[in-house]
Amino acid sequence: MTEPLTTDRLALRPWQDSDVDFAYDLYSRWLVQRFIGTEPVVMASRSEAEERVRRFQDLQHPVHGIWAVTRKDDGTPVGTVLLKPIPASGEEPLQPSADIEIGWHFHPDHWGNGYASEAAGAVLSHAFASGLEKVVAVTNPANEASQSVCRRLGMEHLGTSKKYYNDQCELFVGSKPALES
Ligand SMILES: CC(C)(COP(=O)(O)OP(=O)(O)OC[C@H]1O[C@@H](n2cnc3c(N)ncnc32)[C@H](O)[C@@H]1OP(=O)(O)O)[C@@H](O)C(=O)NCCC(=O)NCCS
Repeated sequence: MTEPLTTDRLALRPWQDSDVDFAYDLYSRWLVQRFIGTEPVVMASRSEAEERVRRFQDLQHPVHGIWAVTRKDDGTPVGTVLLKPIPASGEEPLQPSADIEIGWHFHPDHWGNGYASEAAGAVLSHAFASGLEKVVAVTNPANEASQSVCRRLGMEHLGTSKKYYNDQCELFVGSKPALES
């Protein structure tokens, strides 16, 4: 069960069947998909969106999750944040590694408001409060916006790596903050 989380402006909740139109609008855009995967493709049909929402809903874990990020003021969905095992590089089909990744996909209509950083910050806090010691993020080397989100979150840039997804990515790591005494 994806645990609901809130921030000043946002409510992060499990994906619902009623989010299919939003999922289709989000993932059918090249601007959103262009840096995702080794061979980016846009979603081509509403049935794919239904399948994606089902997959998002299927992830059942006490800590991991795939959140629909909505605005608190009017409930508008603005994006996705995920926290899940990251696939290790290797033979296809790729298998999940022991490392946990955080990722984000936001609708271009809502970029530039700090929503991605705010929502991902809440998910990172949830991850560390739930006992995870580190969380990784990978981005396409050209994806400066995503790298800015990593930096805003205080994640450390470890350089370029081919450790995950059979792809050359910029690798960032966030570590559980030491408890203040
Ligand atoms: C990555 C993404 C979530 C960032 O969304 P956003 O709304 O710009 O995020 P935020 O408002 O929280 O700010 C992110 C930072 O990126 C910067 N930024 C935004 N667009 C940028 C761009 N095209 N080039 C460089 N920097 C950019 C912002 O100025 C901000 O930087 P700051 O911390 O210096 O102020 C959004 O671009 C997106 O959903 N992209 C498509 C999906 C994707 O690529 N996901 C990541 C896969 S690794």
